Amino acid sequence: MPRSQRVTVHALRRMKDEGKKIAMLTAYDYYTARILDECGVDILLVGDTVGMAFAGHDTTLGVRLDHIVYHSEIVARAAQRAMVVADMPFLTYQLTIETAVQNAGRLVQDGKAHAVKLEGGRAMVPVIKRILRAGIPVMGHIGLTPQSVHRFGGFRVQGKDEESAQRLKDAARALEDAGCFAIVLEAIPRQLAAEITAGLRIPTIGIGAGPDCDGQVLVTPDMLGLTGFAAKYLKHYANLRQVITDAVTQYVKEVKSGEFPGPEHCYE
Ligand code: KIV
Repeated sequence: MPRSQRVTVHALRRMKDEGKKIAMLTAYDYYTARILDECGVDILLVGDTVGMAFAGHDTTLGVRLDHIVYHSEIVARAAQRAMVVADMPFLTYQLTIETAVQNAGRLVQDGKAHAVKLEGGRAMVPVIKRILRAGIPVMGHIGLTPQSVHRFGGFRVQGKDEESAQRLKDAARALEDAGCFAIVLEAIPRQLAAEITAGLRIPTIGIGAGPDCDGQVLVTPDMLGLTGFAAKYLKHYANLRQVITDAVTQYVKEVKSGEFPGPEHCYE
């Protein structure tokens, strides 16, 4: 596939202008990423949810830069068309601007990502501007920002009262003005997401933010029914846990009974 068919920041903006929805999913491994890319997913997010949906932890806080670099390089090798966005893990962009730029650079240089994503509102503007000055596109992420789970007192819907809703609207505008090419809106009321989306020129990508965002993102192992995670916003498009259970139960049975391997699986 020619390089020009890669989904770019300009293509995403055009999609918003033309009212075409953006489909984004998380990806952590080569073969899943290849399938998602072939299915027409526009953005593959190497999310720090790798710590939860891949490694089985309760939060994303233990994920390190090296983890995302490792998974991002794998996903980027698989993706022919999709834009690959690498998440900046907890404490890789909050300490100093210099380390933030260095870490974002590593995600692009070693992780082969096309862009990075970081969590937070107005306070992140100076960091975002410096990463952009290094030539790296930045996706914002506001609402339920999982790296602040302990400050929120759990994974809770954000922006439910007028003051926090206004704070999120201000944050979205600040991120657009800083130069973000898109913003993830996580776990906020539908009406608020609709207002933020209508007020921005850049696309919004919702997760638990209703249908009026310019695009949607889900955590792939969750939507495929592998993790057992359930939430109001989540739709299970498959039950991979059951598919794997059935296959492996059959395999164990056939090994124990001697049915596998059969003659057709033997070398002469
Ligand atoms: O890390 C992640 O997968 C994310 C999505 C939930 C948006 O940030």
